[in-house]
Amino acid sequence: MAIILGIESSCDETSASVCIDGKVINNEIANQTIHEQYGGVVPELASREHQRNIVPVVEHVLSHADINVNDLDGIAYTRGPGLLGALLIGSSFSKAMAASLGIPLIPIHHMKAHVLAHFIDDPKPSYPFICLTVSGGHTQILRINNPTEMIILGQTQDDAVGEAFDKAAKLLGLPYPGGPMIDKLAMSGNPNRFQFAESEMPELDYSFSGIKTSILYFLRKELKKNEQFIKENLNDLAASIQKTLLSMLMKKLILAASQEKIKQIAIAGGVSANSGLRQQLNEEALKRGWEVFIPDFQYCTDNAGMIAISGHLLFEQDAFGSLADSPLPRMPF
Ligand code: KG4
Ligand code: ZN
Repeated sequence: MAIILGIESSCDETSASVCIDGKVINNEIANQTIHEQYGGVVPELASREHQRNIVPVVEHVLSHADINVNDLDGIAYTRGPGLLGALLIGSSFSKAMAASLGIPLIPIHHMKAHVLAHFIDDPKPSYPFICLTVSGGHTQILRINNPTEMIILGQTQDDAVGEAFDKAAKLLGLPYPGGPMIDKLAMSGNPNRFQFAESEMPELDYSFSGIKTSILYFLRKELKKNEQFIKENLNDLAASIQKTLLSMLMKKLILAASQEKIKQIAIAGGVSANSGLRQQLNEEALKRGWEVFIPDFQYCTDNAGMIAISGHLLFEQDAFGSLADSPLPRMPF
């Protein structure tokens, strides 16, 4: 039985959440819109925004949960991976607060937290299960044996799939982050209109850097013939790009499930908000007898709810950190 405050600040969302006895009470997210005009996250601006947001966001979740700071039993925060300056704000704030309250710190791995977000709401998966984690920085197929034992079965050797969505969107002239825009446009597009080559990788690994180049060359060729090509075919382009990326993701996921003989399949990370991916997963579930776990939208992209629930699970195992823990932008898995 514990009350945990969770804090997430690895990229461009400042988020806090309170978890009481394993139940995530609230999840407040301050999104930073300042980066849109630059077509990507500007690290220094992200740090300054975190600094501005963190106190009001934490105050808000505590008062909303009707919790006094003295009721807290521990503070969980994202130690990495992420942007160093952004991580520093969350970790310094958490350390100062934990030290002044005399309560333990629980450092959290951001990507593992994406997976553990499945323990916020019912139905929850039972161990072992497979999780496809798909975000702006990672693409991994994991076998989850318990909250601390996660085995990488396969992963991208270059770009993450979220990055591929974002770079493709940029080529189409869409604002950052492009993934949600492609998803929306694809809903009313023809996915079979254009063909893009899928990269082949051995075993359960992925490669997403080639697709961006093939989209670039294709667009250059078409734009020479018709300057309005992108504008006139935007929905079909988005649908065709999304189809290619999802097909690559699903093939390896199906292979992993059959190799591991596991039928409990989860998805996590920002790209798990993608409606096409959710639909394909449900279709495969019917075909293959899988039980699939798809997080609520608010727990797909970066949020502190997943940090708070991870803090709860690790608190039970006394997995505490110390004031000497520095943020790890490239935190090993
Ligand atoms: O997990 P996340 O919020 O941040 C990282 O830890 O990277 O993931 C962000 C990524 C971005 O690349 C964004 O474009 C992508 O998730 N994303 C989507 C969708 N929503 C977010 N990609 C495709 N379809 C979506 N609906
Ligand atoms: Zn993330």
